[in-house]
Amino acid sequence: MSHIILDHVSLSYPVFGANGRSFKSGIFHMATGGRLAKSHGSITVEALKDINLNLQSGDRLGLIGHNGAGKTTLLKVLAQIFEPTAGKISVKGNSNCLFDIMMGMDIESSGYENIMLRGLLLGLRRSEVKKLIPSIEEFAELGDFMKMPIKTYSAGMRVRLAFGIITSLPAEILLIDEVVNVGDANFMEKAKKRMKGLIHQSDILVLSTHDVNIMKEFCNKVLWLEHGKITYFGEIAEGLRQYQKESGLLA
Ligand SMILES: Nc1ncnc2c1ncn2[C@@H]1O[C@H](COP(=O)(O)OP(=O)(O)OP(=O)(O)O)[C@@H](O)[C@H]1O
Ligand SMILES: [Mg+2]
Repeated sequence: MSHIILDHVSLSYPVFGANGRSFKSGIFHMATGGRLAKSHGSITVEALKDINLNLQSGDRLGLIGHNGAGKTTLLKVLAQIFEPTAGKISVKGNSNCLFDIMMGMDIESSGYENIMLRGLLLGLRRSEVKKLIPSIEEFAELGDFMKMPIKTYSAGMRVRLAFGIITSLPAEILLIDEVVNVGDANFMEKAKKRMKGLIHQSDILVLSTHDVNIMKEFCNKVLWLEHGKITYFGEIAEGLRQYQKESGLLA
């Protein structure tokens, strides 16, 4: 059984090179983004503030909130890429992140070599990675281009390969940031199907997207962030209703 528990988690980004003197007082509110705070002349962005969260197996959480509300930052904390500046985090279960899906790809190497590179990087054995190849080939539909260096691929072809690789690796915790809207219509259909399979095999899903239909399709709970703080956490239909009402999308 997997879990994710956040206990009063906050995260501030230090901002190097910002001129603290041009900011008048201590804390600033903006329409978008986290809160800018000034202390001793230096500036920080408070991206997450005092987040308490308990996710258990079966939870499929959608993250909503305006640009800069803290969704990507929260995903990076859950992936343990970032350590909180305050508070505690406990994660049980191995996780797979679909963030910057081109990360770690080598443009001089072929499609096949990139599959091996990524697999080995994730700690799989060579024989385990080889077993994944047919399903990635079938999904990416790149044919002989799989033998070519990926610098010869178009942007969409690279996404097909990268998405195929990442989604061939099941994990207990699946963290997805805005990668759902990529590629042409035919690819989108295939990508959705493949994601469904991956989500089905996972214990916990956390998905950030501005697409309400995708969220309704995959999630059963919703977390609404505003300026790094939780505005709503709970059942999805009510959360989306409140969010849409607040955003002026519902009368
Ligand atoms: N590397 C960074 N350095 C400084 N501030 C950052 C950095 N990354 C994000 N921020 C700030 O943290 C806050 C939260 O950003 P985050 O990327 O988590 O938002 P988001 O909810 O994912 O937004 P979007 O919907 O635009 O993807 C923003 O105010 C942003 O300016
Ligand atoms: Mg984001």
